[in-house]
Amino acid sequence: MKKNIILDLDTGVDDSIALALAAIDPSVNLLGVTATFGNVTTDVGARNALDVLALVGRSDVPVYEGAYHALNQQKFQPHDVSVRIHGRNGVGQVSFSRSTREVEKESAFDFIINSMHSYGKDLTIITTGPLTNLATVLQREPELCFWNGQVVVMGGALTVRGNVNHFAEANISQDPEAAKMVFESGLDVTMVGLDVTMRSRLTQHDADLWRSGGKQFGILFAGMVEYYITNTLGSDETYVHDPSAVVCSLHPEYFTIIPLHLTVETEGVDRGRTIVDHRRLREGNPTTKVCVDVDASKVEMSLEKIATFARS
Ligand code: BDR
Ligand code: CA
Repeated sequence: MKKNIILDLDTGVDDSIALALAAIDPSVNLLGVTATFGNVTTDVGARNALDVLALVGRSDVPVYEGAYHALNQQKFQPHDVSVRIHGRNGVGQVSFSRSTREVEKESAFDFIINSMHSYGKDLTIITTGPLTNLATVLQREPELCFWNGQVVVMGGALTVRGNVNHFAEANISQDPEAAKMVFESGLDVTMVGLDVTMRSRLTQHDADLWRSGGKQFGILFAGMVEYYITNTLGSDETYVHDPSAVVCSLHPEYFTIIPLHLTVETEGVDRGRTIVDHRRLREGNPTTKVCVDVDASKVEMSLEKIATFARS
């Protein structure tokens, strides 16, 4: 049976790779993509998602726009660091052909809510941006905290330092209040944070391989990833953040996962930090599962599906 998945993305470079990975996987029933702000503004992220889907021949997948800014903010502009890493257009300054499909009229919130009701436990929502869309869903229908599907979050850092500052990871830092709401909600959440995403590598060799197939997809994705590689670590490799969440949803057995009651700091110097809720240390049945280790070779092997697709 195929796995029903919604991807909630702030479609920058690694989100695009996560999207391609899910879209080309025959074991995935990709129900839709919901767009959020983060690496880019929501409208740009939605556009990028449509274009990536067209590039991999999956224009049948609908894309919905969600939150335009964090819960406690009135507006959003991408941070300089996001522009530097993902490019002004979010996809490494590479020009994708425009998809002829448009963004859906229905909001991301309604789409997520309706899908949660229709699919129940047989739905996984994978988020690779700020958690604002999911938090908004919970604000609109609080009883959805009893929903028994799965949420896989790329975000946070428990055993390692953050990447925005010592404490906070970028996706959580964009909207700590939303993240706190989701982690404390009681939903079945798996956190795929920097603890694991920084252990796997995407390299220049991967980009060369993608390009060598000579297909439009491989050439554009190689260019996009080269931009990202150059502007993140400045070497010939980079981390595998967002695709790790897709891999984890399909193959949790590659990961070492600890159940914990997780929360997010919203005050002080460690605002945006994902941390165990000290008030709930003695409580049973933690709802968050935190990935603390991974067989990186398995994640890297999963990325080979992209190379195979680019060369087929
Ligand atoms: C996360 O931040 C974004 O820049 C990436 O797309 C990823 O989702 C990594 O901290
Ligand atoms: Ca992302």
